[in-house]
Amino acid sequence: MVIVTGGTGYIGSHTCVELINNGFEVVILDNLSNSHESMLDAIEELSGKRPTFYKVDIDDSDQLAAVFEKIGSKAESVIHFAAKKAVGESVQEPLEYYRNNLDSLINILVEMGRHQIQNLVFSSSCTVYGQPDVCPVTEETPRKEAESPYGNTKSICEDIIRDTSKAQSLNAISLRYFNPIGAHESAKIGELPIGVPNNLVPYVTQTAAGIRKELTIFGDDYVTDDGTCIRDYIHVVDLAKAHLQALRKLEAATSESSYDIFNIGTGKGSSVLDVVKAFETATGVSINYKLGPKREGDITAVYADTTKANTQLNWKAQLGLEESLKSSWNWEQNYRSRNT
Ligand code: NAD
Ligand code: UFG
Repeated sequence: MVIVTGGTGYIGSHTCVELINNGFEVVILDNLSNSHESMLDAIEELSGKRPTFYKVDIDDSDQLAAVFEKIGSKAESVIHFAAKKAVGESVQEPLEYYRNNLDSLINILVEMGRHQIQNLVFSSSCTVYGQPDVCPVTEETPRKEAESPYGNTKSICEDIIRDTSKAQSLNAISLRYFNPIGAHESAKIGELPIGVPNNLVPYVTQTAAGIRKELTIFGDDYVTDDGTCIRDYIHVVDLAKAHLQALRKLEAATSESSYDIFNIGTGKGSSVLDVVKAFETATGVSINYKLGPKREGDITAVYADTTKANTQLNWKAQLGLEESLKSSWNWEQNYRSRNT
């Protein structure tokens, strides 16, 4: 059995579908602070099995202990997605972010120790690299001081896991996600940003849908080929599959304790203008956009060297930028048609 925290969220829900479709028994823990219980219906529809669900605040140690009393003895592994993730909000409310993201991880590790659960997959982020001196970044590329409290929680969480693996029986993997986009091919699950999106792709799809008047491209004089920032956009279904491979690696491990880190991206950098063009090509819908000032805190370019994941996890991204954007658009249209 795999305990999936944050399993009703964007990446968690896609991962639950992959897990169940590959024979894993899944139990989801989520407080629904950034997701909906109806996601369980969609996961059931796409996988044929409804995961067991506990509504629980993972940062509350008593609540979490009570849930682990019920399920802890049956679980072999935990995938820990649950976290607050809005970069801007984390600058306004740093203590909320440190409390939620750090306490949740610590509580999970305590319960794993108590119930002798050995395998952990953790959601980290390429944000730990900051603005790297050289791209693509490998897992050996030094981390830089975080640009935000959110980013800092990811760096600190990685260190908490590394240190705990030296002190208790724990095999753990941190996956450093690059920029997750896209949605399941069914368009029944996808990303649901609340209010005005901060991230590029939801802003693009909402502009295409006429919900936003125009996209502002933040900065056009970066030192890149077309002057706009470069990121590594990874399809969420490819990302979900990376968790499956990480879990398989952990379950096959013979060591008592270990800790490893993997970059999960496509290995290809795309500029903001590349994304706009790829969206237009993939969907046939034009995007109304203007060039605007830089956004504070943005880095110029980051993309992954994925050799380690390719060779040691036996994982490689299969879906390209256009396929990813097309799936985001299908999801946006399907969601709007059901909710307007
Ligand atoms: P999401 O907000 O869609 O999912 C996170 C889930 O965790 C939500 O369902 C939320 O209700 C739940 N949650 C949060 N705090 C909780 C708590 N204290 N107790 C119980 N449940 C709680 O986010 P996502 O995009 O699916 O991200 C999943 C993970 O991946 C997060 O750790 C995030 O930081 C990390 N990550 C995301 C991105 C991205 O761009 N989406 C990039 C890098 C890393
Ligand atoms: N951008 C625009 N216009 C917009 C939104 C974004 O031009 O309206 C640009 C940004 O300036 C950036 C690129 O599009 O150059 C991507 O921006 P996102 O906000 O989509 O993604 P970020 O790379 O800034 O950050 C994301 C998540 C973070 C996470 C990071 C690395 O938001 O939580 O990826 O995983 F830490």
